Amino acid sequence: MRKVAIIGVGMTKFGELWDKSLRQLLVESGLEALEDASEKRTLRGKDIEAAYIGNMSAGLFNEQEHLAAMLADYTGMTEGNRPATKVEAACASGGVALYNAYLAVASGRYNIVAVCGLEKMTDLLSGSVTDALVSAADREYEAFYGVTFPSLYAMMARRHMHDYGTTLEQLALVAVKNHRNGYYNPKAQFRRLITVEDVYRSPVIADPLRLLHCSPVSDGAATIILADAKTAKKYTDRLVYILACAQASDTLGLYNRKDLTTMESVVSASKVAYETARLKPKDIDFVEAHDCFTIAEIMAYEDLGFCEKGRGGKMIEEGLTEIDGEIPFNPSGGLKAKGHPVGATGVAQAVEVVLQLREEAEQRQVKGAKIGMSHNIGGTGSTAVVTIYGRDV
Ligand code: COA
Repeated sequence: MRKVAIIGVGMTKFGELWDKSLRQLLVESGLEALEDASEKRTLRGKDIEAAYIGNMSAGLFNEQEHLAAMLADYTGMTEGNRPATKVEAACASGGVALYNAYLAVASGRYNIVAVCGLEKMTDLLSGSVTDALVSAADREYEAFYGVTFPSLYAMMARRHMHDYGTTLEQLALVAVKNHRNGYYNPKAQFRRLITVEDVYRSPVIADPLRLLHCSPVSDGAATIILADAKTAKKYTDRLVYILACAQASDTLGLYNRKDLTTMESVVSASKVAYETARLKPKDIDFVEAHDCFTIAEIMAYEDLGFCEKGRGGKMIEEGLTEIDGEIPFNPSGGLKAKGHPVGATGVAQAVEVVLQLREEAEQRQVKGAKIGMSHNIGGTGSTAVVTIYGRDV
């Protein structure tokens, strides 16, 4: 396998972007990534040999399918009838697109590949958004009986509280931390500070989860450009390498899990990623994690091996995952504050890791960061992608 580098990144602002269409978001992030990669030599759309796009459900959200063709047609990438492929894995669509692009370059099939992530969710009213999202769970055995994504994660939260004594305050502290980080991210959907009391006062969505425990409904796109190490050096000296990228699966339905508080997909993918990169949790300097609901971040601390099972609540309480803590989680603001356009999230996480490793994250910079990780999950953890990145030093 060849060494794979990220040579360019681009990302739109995340939020309710009613003045921009699906294709405008895609083009904006794509052009930014091409420009970002062109430090020493101009990277043009026609230099991209293949492209992957992660999207969960433009069919339901925007009545538009075939986004791979849109990407090829409107971004100019893959000019010359080269292949473009759409990848769907619910909220892990972006991560799975990254995984496939990584394999395509590592295997030697292509030298330069683009990975886009895109979702525009705010064109529908809330009820329809909730219904579209729950198609990532088991429609026949879960959604039919009335569950929604907030309620599935509420069940995980209740079980975690029951088994390990995790408290409402610990859950709320995850949201407070991520809003604090997002305050410094110019591309975040929410740039406002919140307190634990604000979380307690926000409306109940699915008990015990309140509005401020949830990631929002968002529009946005992100693009990264991958290249093999030799090609990469022709375009830029600001290289970030993918040291490992692993994908794993768990049951589609939460009802089939042995343990509601463990995502086996995350445990498996992170094990493979650590082994491939020959690293351990203590070597990771920060993590961009999939905090779709506050409980998901606490479970990520545990499933990624940063603490023992059941100690996740203590990690946030003790400040270990703050931006200046032992292992900062979500310096970007995470899904909670940065926003969660579902298919774009896995690629946006990679954008943040790259900015952090290039020391371009300004006021939210994790000091001295050399090794970063991203953790992207689909559904209730039915799909997981864990990626480890390293700075070229
Ligand atoms: N965090 C913080 N503020 C939020 C928010 C969130 N998650 N969601 C909405 N808001 C704010 C809005 O900005 C708005 O503020 P304003 O009145 O100052 O303009 C206000 O709350 C009401 O917004 P609205 O869009 O009417 O909220 P809603 O009740 O329709 O939706 C949720 C709230 C929590 C139901 C929705 O955000 C949601 O479904 N989140 C989960 C998404 C999800 O499941 N993703 C997949 C994960 S696997």
